[in-house]
Formats: sequence, structure tokens, C-alpha cells
Amino acid sequence: MKKDRYQQYLEDREAYFGRVARLGRRDFVKAAGLVAAGAVATGKVLPHSFQPVDVVHADSPEKSFRFAYISDSHLYEKSLNERFVRSILKAVDDVNAMSPAPDFVLYGGDLAQLGQPGELSEGAQILKALKPKTYMMVGEHDWYLDMGEKWRALFGKDIYSFDHKGVHLVVLNSVIVEDYWTGPKLSPMDRMLAMAQLDNPNGRPFTVGDAQRDWLKNDLAKVKPDTPVIVFSHSPLYKIYKKWNFWTDDAEQVQALLAPFKSVTVIHGHTHQMLSNRIGNIHFHGMLSTAWPWPYAPQGLPKLTVRMNRADPFDEFDGCGDGAVDVLKGGHVDKEYNLWSRNPVRVSAAYLGSDGGSDRPATETNVNY
Ligand SMILES: [Fe+2]
Ligand SMILES: [Fe+2]
Repeated sequence: MKKDRYQQYLEDREAYFGRVARLGRRDFVKAAGLVAAGAVATGKVLPHSFQPVDVVHADSPEKSFRFAYISDSHLYEKSLNERFVRSILKAVDDVNAMSPAPDFVLYGGDLAQLGQPGELSEGAQILKALKPKTYMMVGEHDWYLDMGEKWRALFGKDIYSFDHKGVHLVVLNSVIVEDYWTGPKLSPMDRMLAMAQLDNPNGRPFTVGDAQRDWLKNDLAKVKPDTPVIVFSHSPLYKIYKKWNFWTDDAEQVQALLAPFKSVTVIHGHTHQMLSNRIGNIHFHGMLSTAWPWPYAPQGLPKLTVRMNRADPFDEFDGCGDGAVDVLKGGHVDKEYNLWSRNPVRVSAAYLGSDGGSDRPATETNVNY
């Protein structure tokens, strides 16, 4: 009799962690390869790598450079939750297998689940196994236990910019909220828990804030209007659904600072799903999570979003993934969603630039659970 999928999952899991248990700490980050080995042994379909897509697009004269992203791993300490550790290991493996190697990796925030020092250290240790240079961004789950103290000790500044091959790239901290903890004398953990919910009436809406907008204005003052600009933010820099904090309260003010530039792309985490939008000159792309996919918000979904189907609940990797971004010579980007257990989906600059008139991404053909 054919085994059901859950039984298969349990057997894979046992085989995998049996191997992990025999590894030392130094070897632990190499263990993601065992996921693939386990899949071969059990006859499961291997999750695809970036390779086939890279080959198809490798000769594009439009491509300037490529970078990879990993986001929203929500790590608990390994003793509490091994599954999310396994997912980030899989993403690290994906990126290290990319050929040619990406110029760099952007980590999109929410590395930790509850901002615990052990969660952040574990994430830092795993990300050290990435071969390309890695740029880090902060998410609210990393921040609200100690207001970013441990994160900054591990990774440095939370707000910075850099230039790469003629493109100006900016990393923001878009999870700043007004103080809701001092008045009611909340403990650090209560402050963290208020922000860690999806539906967080106890927290506050995300902002970039006055001080950071001033910093951004000064940073952009040095950049010519025809220089392509890519901004990384954890929350979307537009407004989808306030009740879930799929929202940045001062988004319009940030967009106004970006309006003078010919080509602007915002790449964000937090929403854990395929999400695309265009507002004027700004193209927006959401990143996938390695931990879980959120459902789509009941309101505010941008019309250019090509939805991913709901995930198979018996496939721990379904609906999750990582991805790559091809920065084109014109400045905007083609975004590739590397959905584990599914075909990759490419959302192109041409699709967003034409307001959906051309180059529409292929619709998913898998079952919608
Ligand atoms: Fe997240
Ligand atoms: Fe988040």
C-alpha cells in the first residue's frame, strides 16, 4: 500500500535528524545537503535548484548583476524547533549551489522568532556558511526584546547604504513603532510578544520615522537621479492591511523621497508571500519566507500581485523558499521566486513596468490547498 504523505514526512524527518544528531556544531551547517539526500533515498521529487532558471536567463544582455535573498526564518533555538533551522539550512544550501554565484545575499529580517540572544546567535552561525557576502536587514521579531542590542552586536548597523556596479542600495529599519511599553511598564518579553503576533492590536504600526527619513534624504542627496536605486525594507513601503502590519505608516513620505529617481525598486520581507506592486516609478517585490507562508490579506492586495497558491499542509517546505534578483541595465529588476516544491516564478520589470500589460508570469498549475 502506498504510504500517505504524512507518514512519509515523519520517516524523512526521523532519518534527517538521526543524521543531524551525530554531527558536531561545526558540521551542523553542512547538514542541509542531507535533506536532498533523504529525498533521493525515499524517491521524493527533489526541490529544484536555481540552476535551470539561471541557464535560461544567463545570456540575457539586459542583466547587470544578480543577488540572492533569504528572509523570515523565524528561528527558535534548535532545542525547541528544528524545522525552521532545517529550512534556513536549505536556503543556505540553495544559495551556495547557485552557478554562477550571486554577487551578494540580502537577508530580509525576522531571523529570530522572539529576539532571543540564542536565536540570533544560531542564525548568525548558520548564515556564516553562505559563500557570498551577506547584507543583513532587521525585522520586528529580531528587535523588540532588547531594541536591537543583540542584533547590532552580531551584525552591525541596521540602517546603511552601499553602491554596487552603478546601483545605489539602501537598507532601512522600517519596523520602528511608537513607545507602547513604557507607560504600562511592559517587560521586554511582553513588549516582544505584542509585536510578534500577526494580528497585533497591542503593538503599533510600523514606520521608518522622522529621524530615518532625514537620514534617507541626506543619503539620497549624493545620488544622481538617473542612478538606479534599490531599497530594502522589512515591511512593505506601501499600505496593504493595517491589522496585520502589512503596512508602513509613513510609506507615502518615504515614497516621496524616492520619487525623483528614474528607477526605484523596493524589496521587502515580512509578508511571507509572492507580492508585487507598482506605484509611479517604484516597483515593489515581497520576499518569500523560509519558515511559513502567510495567507493573503483580506484587503489591500495590489492588482499586479500574482498570487501563490495556498500551501500543502503536509509538505513542510511548500509555500516557502528563497529567491534571486536580476538587476537589469535599465535599473529595475526581474524577481525570481524560488518556491520549494513548486516551479519557480519570475516577476519581471517588463510586467510591472507595463502595469501587467505584457510578460505576465505563468500561473501556478499545482493544487491550491
Ligand atoms: Fe516574518
Ligand atoms: Fe516581520
